[in-house]
Amino acid sequence: MAQPNPKSISYSSANQENGTILEVKDLKKSHLSNGKKGKLQVLDGIDFSVREGEFVTIIGPSGCGKSTLLNIIAGLESYDSGDVIVKGHRIGAAGPDIVIIFQEDALFPWLTVTGNIEFGLKQKGIPKEERKRIAREYIELVDLSPFANSYVHQLSGGMKQRVAIARGLALNPRILLMDEPFGALDARTREIMQKEIQQIHEKTKKTILFVTHDVREAVSLGDRVILFTHRPAKIKQQYVVDLPRPRDSEDPALVGTINAIMKELKEETSFDTTRGTANRAIELPAQ
Ligand SMILES: Nc1ncnc2c1ncn2[C@@H]1O[C@H](COP(=O)(O)OP(=O)(O)O)[C@@H](O)[C@H]1O
Ligand SMILES: [Mg+2]
Repeated sequence: MAQPNPKSISYSSANQENGTILEVKDLKKSHLSNGKKGKLQVLDGIDFSVREGEFVTIIGPSGCGKSTLLNIIAGLESYDSGDVIVKGHRIGAAGPDIVIIFQEDALFPWLTVTGNIEFGLKQKGIPKEERKRIAREYIELVDLSPFANSYVHQLSGGMKQRVAIARGLALNPRILLMDEPFGALDARTREIMQKEIQQIHEKTKKTILFVTHDVREAVSLGDRVILFTHRPAKIKQQYVVDLPRPRDSEDPALVGTINAIMKELKEETSFDTTRGTANRAIELPAQ
């Protein structure tokens, strides 16, 4: 399939209808427990849908099953029951284009920034000149034009994540999955990347499903925040964040939503899943 001009796809009409692009229906998943008898239930009936162009964040306690969910949507892991439907097709069946970006992305050290972005395009059979043009577009999108010919070891952590984002978007996926993509960055770089991903979303109107364990990040970025319970994860609550961007971190509505989610998350985090009882001794770090 020829790669359409990224300007015509990504920068314009993806959001015209705002129809549903992703449906997760009563999804259940257990992992085989390591060295123990039986299975570890991780997802316990996850149900939600995402509209085209929407930026949805998922937050939940560590180990509740967030990465498992993203891996399932990306087609990297199997599931026990339920459904994951992308644009009306069960995942796997139609091979929808879904890209996942992790905390530490495996860029190819022997390739330049341009080479890394072109790699996947080459796999898709896109001709050389077209590849070069697409790579240039996306390098510009993530503000890395001066580093187009730099190698990975010459880049900072934030720049590497920009390359990963550009590489993912250059494939023109229907959905961009991000699993704690800024989790390994220092606070300042993380803030810059949070602004950057909002601008990228604004320009490309790409559907983004973004996992984080940072409440402020979830509320600052998402059109909607989905809060998971402790494992096995269910959806505890969803919050619509109907605030204009760029968002003011002091906005009382934003702060109010952060506090409400913190309270709910604290309940989940203090739940000791190994004993099945609430353990009030475990506290979240101070805000
Ligand atoms: N492949 C696997 N095999 C066995 N257990 C797993 C596997 N992947 C994850 N787990 C376990 O499943 C639970 C959920 O993991 P994960 O989805 O990574 O959580 P989160 O991303 O919310 O921190 C954890 O207890 C984890 O140890
Ligand atoms: Mg995880």
